[in-house]
Amino acid sequence: MTKTVAFHLQKGGVGKTTISGTLACQSALDGKKTLIVDCDPQGNVSSWFLQEAPRYELADVLQGRCFVNDAIVEAPGMENLYILPTFGIGGTLKTYSETKLSEEPFVIQDLIKEVAENYDHVVMDLSPGLGMLERYALIASDEVITPMTSEVFSLDGLEIFIHELQKLRKNLRSNVRHDKIIINSFDTRIRQHRDIYQAALDSGNYKVYLIPVDPIFRKSQEAGKAPQLFKVHGRGMKDSTQIVFEELYKDIWK
Ligand SMILES: Nc1ncnc2c1ncn2[C@@H]1O[C@H](COP(=O)(O)OP(=O)(O)OP(=O)(O)O)[C@@H](O)[C@H]1O
Ligand SMILES: [Mg+2]
Repeated sequence: MTKTVAFHLQKGGVGKTTISGTLACQSALDGKKTLIVDCDPQGNVSSWFLQEAPRYELADVLQGRCFVNDAIVEAPGMENLYILPTFGIGGTLKTYSETKLSEEPFVIQDLIKEVAENYDHVVMDLSPGLGMLERYALIASDEVITPMTSEVFSLDGLEIFIHELQKLRKNLRSNVRHDKIIINSFDTRIRQHRDIYQAALDSGNYKVYLIPVDPIFRKSQEAGKAPQLFKVHGRGMKDSTQIVFEELYKDIWK
């Protein structure tokens, strides 16, 4: 059975899109047919990998305006990488989630179940917040991994997230696995970062991954490319970043 992984913390700007997009590239580069589902009304992961707005988006599928296979597009120049996109500008996912979604809490879960069997790996990028859209997307995933940054507010966010997941497990019968935390933009030289790392280790039974600050993310996002393949003046992804993604990929799917 295809395993679906989501990246989530309700806090904004912690690296959900960067990490989900990079992990999906890692999977595609390993020769696995990989689908990214863009569940964020901002549509960031779609605009990263798609230069042109496709005809249909996720919200069209959820509303029965097209078949899921009409909406999925192949990422140009990236073999094995497919996107079920969301349009950031003029998109309908936000409106849909605010008006219709409450009537059909399992619509995303049903869609993912239907589509996942055509792919080796599925990655979901979620929006910040813990509203209906994020909750119903979370119950569609087999595993959720929490990215955070080295700040006290992120730790508070993690505590809230863990609490909310417990409610999801109880109220929506979710079995979503949660045993991995990623501290993003980590700098081992900074004492506060080391303290947050220790606190994350102490917060439960989590494996904690550390991703360094790496300019390749922003540059490859601007260029619409996979960070693993992109080079500026001959310089690509840091070795330490590459190692974390290889480990994360192996731990999730191997
Ligand atoms: N390890 C990193 N090193 C350097 N820049 C990074 C790193 N991780 C993320 N960024 C940059 O930080 C910004 C925010 O990252 P990203 O969009 O992935 O966060 P997000 O959690 O998806 O945000 P949102 O909550 O709005 O969806 C982006 O410009 C991204 O390029
Ligand atoms: Mg994002």
